[in-house]
Amino acid sequence: MSRTILRGRVLSFHRAPQAIDDSQSYFYLEDGAVGLEDGIIVSVGDFAATDTAGAVVIDHRPHLITPGFIDLHLHYVQSQMMAAYAGSLLEWLNTYTFIEEQKFSQQGHADAVAVDFYDALIRHGTTTAVAYCSSHPRSVDAFFAEAQRRNMLMVGGKVMMDRNAPEGLCDTARSGYDDTKALIARWHGRGRALYAISPRFAITSTPEQMDAARALVAEFPDCYVQTHLSENDAEITYSMELYPGSPDYTGIYEDYGLLGPKTLLGHCIHLNHRETAVLAETGAVAVFCPTSNLFLGSGLFDRDRLIGHGVRVGVATDIGGGTSVSMLRTLDEGYKVLQLRGQRLNPLASFHMATRGNAEALGLEGTIGSIAPGMAADLIVLDAGATPTMRMRQATMSTLAEELFLLQTMGDDRAIAEVYVAGARAKSTLGGL
Ligand code: GUN
Ligand code: ZN
Repeated sequence: MSRTILRGRVLSFHRAPQAIDDSQSYFYLEDGAVGLEDGIIVSVGDFAATDTAGAVVIDHRPHLITPGFIDLHLHYVQSQMMAAYAGSLLEWLNTYTFIEEQKFSQQGHADAVAVDFYDALIRHGTTTAVAYCSSHPRSVDAFFAEAQRRNMLMVGGKVMMDRNAPEGLCDTARSGYDDTKALIARWHGRGRALYAISPRFAITSTPEQMDAARALVAEFPDCYVQTHLSENDAEITYSMELYPGSPDYTGIYEDYGLLGPKTLLGHCIHLNHRETAVLAETGAVAVFCPTSNLFLGSGLFDRDRLIGHGVRVGVATDIGGGTSVSMLRTLDEGYKVLQLRGQRLNPLASFHMATRGNAEALGLEGTIGSIAPGMAADLIVLDAGATPTMRMRQATMSTLAEELFLLQTMGDDRAIAEVYVAGARAKSTLGGL
């Protein structure tokens, strides 16, 4: 395959910025050239110093080329139920979510939603996501098959849930184990697919199913684990009634051997001191889902406290509790949640979190989330002047940090000018697609 060179302003992070003026945490090229070949980034440097002989040059100036966004927690099977009117988590689950997810017992439905879901991800500049499928194995097949067609690196798994939900959605401890095992054999490591063992949360899994999840985690240590933790007060109370022997909500997952560096825990809002220490010790990741936490009135994520205690933190949309597919909208709402906590999330830290930070949370920082030779060519091109209102603000803007802050505060899918997945153009506003 021939070499392609993307010309434009280039931004990528080495590590988490400590402050808004931490220029050592990233590299930035005013007129850069990113060389792509066979889906991989093969060179990065100043355009003037780049040999362009024989290469196709695509000029993205004056826009900003960054790694594609990574979404660390969403439910693709909830794509058609965003904006469901409910007071709080358990009502929302029982009234809408568990009804909607039952539709995924039909293969045709799963296939059709998967297509729309990936179209939406690409439109919004998300090139990798970690997803919950429904309890039906065919929803997982649809999820990974469509990702494979698009050559996208996706992580996902069938939710295991054997109680406190309608019969049409419940598996059993045995079938949840067997189906998960078969899906891991079918998908994990096939192309860019990676599997996440997914006990939904303590309320919908019996102790027998938690035992089965523990066995899966022990058998398949290179798979991810994902579940929900400490999102809502009523959820916490009910979980402790169901598992009275555990010291706290985190203790339930700890008791079943589910916590480790490959474990992604959605929400983590109301954690006590012991729980925070356990997350830090085990290396499990607390996933901040701001639009969902505001929408469901769940609470305000305490990012500084978690990071201060050594907990790894990522960020995600949590579709369909979340209200936008856009990681830009998500960062904006995250900024506001932290404002209410008296915390500052500077725009460099936001963009790091949505790219390299989430890649580190997955242990995939050697593959995605940065622009460097050898990394996958999963890239986006951002336009901070995508709308008339953004252009008004752009006129008074002078720094990179201001540009990023404008993108996250006012941007959405219109600000995603181009998307490359494994070097192939998946969205273009320049035409040709
Ligand atoms: N807890 C258990 N299941 C879910 C879900 O689907 N969404 C959210 N936000 N929380 C959950
Ligand atoms: Zn969730």
